[in-house]
Amino acid sequence: MIRAEHLTKRYGWHTAIEDVSFQVEKGEVLGFLGPNGAGKTTTMRILAGFFPASEGRAVVAGFDVFEQPLEVKRRVGYLPENPPLYEAMTVDAYLRFVASIKGVNRAAVGSRLLEVKARCGLEEEGQRLIKHLSKGYKQRVGLAQALIHKPEILILDEPTIGLDPRQIIEVRELIKGLAGDHTVILSTHILPEVSMTCQRVIIINKGKIVAVDTPENLTGQSASGAMLELEVGGAVENLDALLREFPQVRSVSLGEPQNAHRTVLVETEGEEDVRHLIAQKVIESGLELYQLKKKSVSLEEVFVQLTTEEEKEEEEEKEEKGEKEEGEE
Ligand SMILES: Nc1ncnc2c1ncn2[C@@H]1O[C@H](COP(=O)(O)OP(=O)(O)O)[C@@H](O)[C@H]1O
Ligand SMILES: [Mg+2]
Repeated sequence: MIRAEHLTKRYGWHTAIEDVSFQVEKGEVLGFLGPNGAGKTTTMRILAGFFPASEGRAVVAGFDVFEQPLEVKRRVGYLPENPPLYEAMTVDAYLRFVASIKGVNRAAVGSRLLEVKARCGLEEEGQRLIKHLSKGYKQRVGLAQALIHKPEILILDEPTIGLDPRQIIEVRELIKGLAGDHTVILSTHILPEVSMTCQRVIIINKGKIVAVDTPENLTGQSASGAMLELEVGGAVENLDALLREFPQVRSVSLGEPQNAHRTVLVETEGEEDVRHLIAQKVIESGLELYQLKKKSVSLEEVFVQLTTEEEKEEEEEKEEKGEKEEGEE
């Protein structure tokens, strides 16, 4: 449905995104996660046909965004970072206006209006002036204008920014409700948002993609393995060797003793849940088992890890270069 191929965008000398490639399948909700300045808005603007990339290509709903931007715009609903709402218009007048620009059949406008207002919780606001609406309601109008022409694809740039906690929940529910018959790509710098709404996540940092995966895989709750955390008492020194007898156990690491108990981390591989086997082994060995649980890494931890790894690499590169330069002198 959406295919980005080696997208690079430069603003003058500044490279905002570099060699960004990914795909979004039909009906999927993809989250674009990254800190401020990572390049989320830039990528979304390119996909929405708002401006061209410096390099690379994007195909949306089967059309090249540079060659056929109008065909793309017809099929895409775009919620920009700051939706261009006409403050002096009423909600109804504005949505009718957008509908006419987007080529919604005149006879269908009335029913589309009712439908998007119902979907975005704007039933009561039709006659109100946009400038009198709260931030949250303005954001709903932004969503409603993105939906008015029944687009197959939605590109939502930070859809929950500036909303209060209740509105955030409502907008997330709305987005989840759109999945399936719409293909959605949304950006956010809020980590829990992607676990709650997205099937797949792209983590972007300083203009480059650093990870693409499901929220489950990123946080280690995956089918390919798990991390177990045990709290054990007694002589745990041999536990390493004992647990490694299981082919499903990849590694065992013992923590420092605390109140005669020790934390033991066991990394397993494969889909099988081996917690009962591990528990049995620990007890059979005469040790005391106080706790055994699956440890999940938070998305925050993954994110910090991924974005600092990159920084370290960069620093190392710089150091290497510096050394060379010194050597040359
Ligand atoms: N119009 C512009 N002119 C120059 N630099 C820009 C412009 N828009 C964005 N940038 C820069 O490009 C980078 C990516 O910005 P942006 O795509 O807005 O990131 P995000 O949406 O992830 O916060 C940032 O370093 C930003 O300062
Ligand atoms: Mg942005």
